Amino acid sequence: MLLLRDANTPAAVIRRADYSAPAFWIDTVHLSFDLDPAKTRVLNKMTLRRNPDVPEQALRLDGDELNLARVLVNGAGTSFKLDAGQLVLENLPASDSFELEIFTTCAPAKNTKLMGLYVSNDSFFTQCEAEGFRRITYYLDRPDVMASFTVTLRADKAKYPVLLSNGNLLDSGTLDDGRHFATWVDPFKKPCYLFALVAGQLVCREQRITSRAGKDHLLQVYVRPGDMDKTEHAMTSLINSVIWDEARFGLGLDLERFMIVATSDFNMGAMENKGLNVFNTKYVLANQATATDVDFANIESVVGHEYFHNWTGNRITCRDWFQLSLKEGLTVFRDQEFSMDLCADASSRAVKRIEDVRVLRTAQFPEDAGPMAHPVRPDSYIEINNFYTVTIYEKGAELVRMMQTLTSGQSDPLGREGFARGMTLYFARHDGSAVTCDDFAQAIADANPDSALAKLLPQFNRWYSQAGTPRLTTTTHYDATAQTYTLNFAQSCPATPGQEAKEAFVIPVSLGLVGASSGAALPLQLPGSAVAASDSHLFVMTQAAESITFENVLEEPVPSILRGFSAPVIVDFDYSDAQLLTLLAHDPDPFNRWEAGQRLALRSAIHAIKAAGPATSSLDAAFISAMRSVLRHPTLDAAFKELVLTLPSETYIAEQLDLVDPQRIHAVREAMREQLAAELAADWQWAFEAHCQNGGYRPDTLSSGRRALAGLALSMLCLAARTSDDVIWPGKAYQRFKDADNMTDRFNALSALVHAGHALATPALARFHSLFKSEELVLDKWFALQAGCTDRGGQVLSAVRQLLKHPDFHIRNPNRARSVIFSYCSANPGAFHRADAAGYLFWSEQVLELDAINPQVAARLARAMDRWKKLAEPYRNAAFEAIKRVAAKPDLSNDVREVVSRALAD
Ligand code: TRP
Ligand code: ZN
Repeated sequence: MLLLRDANTPAAVIRRADYSAPAFWIDTVHLSFDLDPAKTRVLNKMTLRRNPDVPEQALRLDGDELNLARVLVNGAGTSFKLDAGQLVLENLPASDSFELEIFTTCAPAKNTKLMGLYVSNDSFFTQCEAEGFRRITYYLDRPDVMASFTVTLRADKAKYPVLLSNGNLLDSGTLDDGRHFATWVDPFKKPCYLFALVAGQLVCREQRITSRAGKDHLLQVYVRPGDMDKTEHAMTSLINSVIWDEARFGLGLDLERFMIVATSDFNMGAMENKGLNVFNTKYVLANQATATDVDFANIESVVGHEYFHNWTGNRITCRDWFQLSLKEGLTVFRDQEFSMDLCADASSRAVKRIEDVRVLRTAQFPEDAGPMAHPVRPDSYIEINNFYTVTIYEKGAELVRMMQTLTSGQSDPLGREGFARGMTLYFARHDGSAVTCDDFAQAIADANPDSALAKLLPQFNRWYSQAGTPRLTTTTHYDATAQTYTLNFAQSCPATPGQEAKEAFVIPVSLGLVGASSGAALPLQLPGSAVAASDSHLFVMTQAAESITFENVLEEPVPSILRGFSAPVIVDFDYSDAQLLTLLAHDPDPFNRWEAGQRLALRSAIHAIKAAGPATSSLDAAFISAMRSVLRHPTLDAAFKELVLTLPSETYIAEQLDLVDPQRIHAVREAMREQLAAELAADWQWAFEAHCQNGGYRPDTLSSGRRALAGLALSMLCLAARTSDDVIWPGKAYQRFKDADNMTDRFNALSALVHAGHALATPALARFHSLFKSEELVLDKWFALQAGCTDRGGQVLSAVRQLLKHPDFHIRNPNRARSVIFSYCSANPGAFHRADAAGYLFWSEQVLELDAINPQVAARLARAMDRWKKLAEPYRNAAFEAIKRVAAKPDLSNDVREVVSRALAD
């Protein structure tokens, strides 16, 4: 069959402006599968009807790598044609509705793209979002076509004892020849991207729960037989998710049965298929011996995320893929709030907020400043898979967070109640339909008619249409005679591809004033108000330039701007060191307290990077002593201390510079770490000893914060030992590595040795491998640690090439490919950016090799070069050559083609 696209045809650009409603609706779908790895037969029986609102036209069904056997309309043969992969039917009955039967086969065992129906560890799985369903059968593969699904699975009973699909089990039984079947009915209409099936040898942990509303539900977590001892945390997280969504938003579980299934071959984190979430094992399996605190926290948030999609994504879905952030931004916001609400105290909540902002600023800000920059609601794409980005997800979540903030008022200072009201209206209006980002924002605004959001909605919506990170340039003026203090804000936003000029954004700026000498939170008094209202104020900026003045300010204060990171912008203010030290010591807002320390470190790093001569660290005595005060602080908690004492990442530092020399940045940051390690040696020793014992393992925020701080202390002590012939701390690290009763402590000790380049790293790595050789997820950590190792003389690349030859390396497994290739190319800038260009050559080879296997994964790797234009020579030119080498390959996937052509565009 002629399904191959001509390699030279440029891929089509899909535009949001071209949206039109489908010409047909699909009311019901009956799918029957005869599952076989080599050749699975799929019978698809649909009831369709013409959409009366659309001019009469042919029915065009999407398909991809399918073998078509038969097409019947109302039970009789019909004429059809295949056009660019689509099945086209022209002579359809005039009747209101008709039945269409399509019989196809596909080859799951050969499906290395992991989209559609595929085999992993002898079990069958599906992944349909965004456009994978067309690889299972011909269909209107678009999210605004919602149908009722009934699914029958038939397979060998011994090989595939468990047969699952969406919804409720209607019937099951045995067939001839050792086969059996199961029929599932989904009580809710859904777009086909939410379809799923799973078949294989799986076991499950189950739990029955009764919801607040008094309904009974069965929760199940399916895994491979050896993994049952790693399912408790996922189940607990699921139960917490059900409880939280009911409590915070009044959204209950709408299904009798809710299933999670884990697979080790998966392109992303997890997928919210209705009632049958499919997860990457990394986000399900955990016990204290194999998973770190970070893994436990990630599982909680991803389980929450997928569960919350049941309402935000599934009950209300996207009209088209340009609206992806409608479900993803909102659901990330919801999972962030969920994790925060599970925190024990305000400090842990702040830690979570800082971690989320750190992700946004180290991954999304660079995306927004690079060749792949796009609005939260994009205007066009070539390959939708490339738009599952940090912009859609994390920046999208920030927009939803700003909406919540902008519904706040006196009786609802955070906007939580106003936002919850908005959610209720959103479901009242749109439940069961496919809608747009505008529909969402409108519902939140309409439910809060007196809010700033309602008043500013059209302007607020520019956040959805304009790409780029706004910069908020701030100056201040203190008038000692009038005792007034003025903050002047000016906003600007750089040009991004296809968007030259930007219009002003609505920027909610949460702010406060801190006494320069007292360190006290100052009462804020606005002109015209008799008394100071509070010590925190929400200034809603709407113009290009605006000022705010406070009265009765007795001395020049220190401004604390953008508290809690109230908007996704860059604050540009020329703080003095003294002001930053005051904020670091006293700001009542923990986010800005942390931020003050980051600004001090960043300033020092940039100074050293730009200085002439060899890379050195010049952290001054005041900074060192401020860090000591935080580390030794009697009441701050350990997790917060660990964040403050961690220097800004190399990626974040690079973003602040116009010309990037990655080796220089790396050398300076390492020198800074060494200085912190040496000058605070006694303090690190105290910190380690005070936090290394934590009783029986529990992954709660308090004890995981203690382990994080002990881990940082140990890595600093091992780093200091490098330059001082100390053998005590490496010895202690090795001992801790051997004796740890949990993976967090064990892995932190191992990392401390590996990153310090200590001789004990070699036996430790060998021991770690032999202890965990049968634990896939732990082996991923073993690979990632070595590929992400601090480079001391260029050895990492040859180590990485060796790792690719290791018998446990399998490039087809995305987790394993990520653990080696991505850890090196995307997460180890000091090792990747080599003056001899060998890192870039490696990158181009791996992109091409992966592209032939799994374009989605290859395109993510391709993005490692996004910021190449900022590089200094000789890196810039070498990077350019490497990207051109990839682009020159004639039969690239659309996925990689789109990424590299955008990188090369000017
Ligand atoms: N919708 C999923 C989520 O955010 C992610 C997802 C989209 C995905 N496309 C995918 C997962 C492809 C795996 C493969 O929760
Ligand atoms: Zn999602």
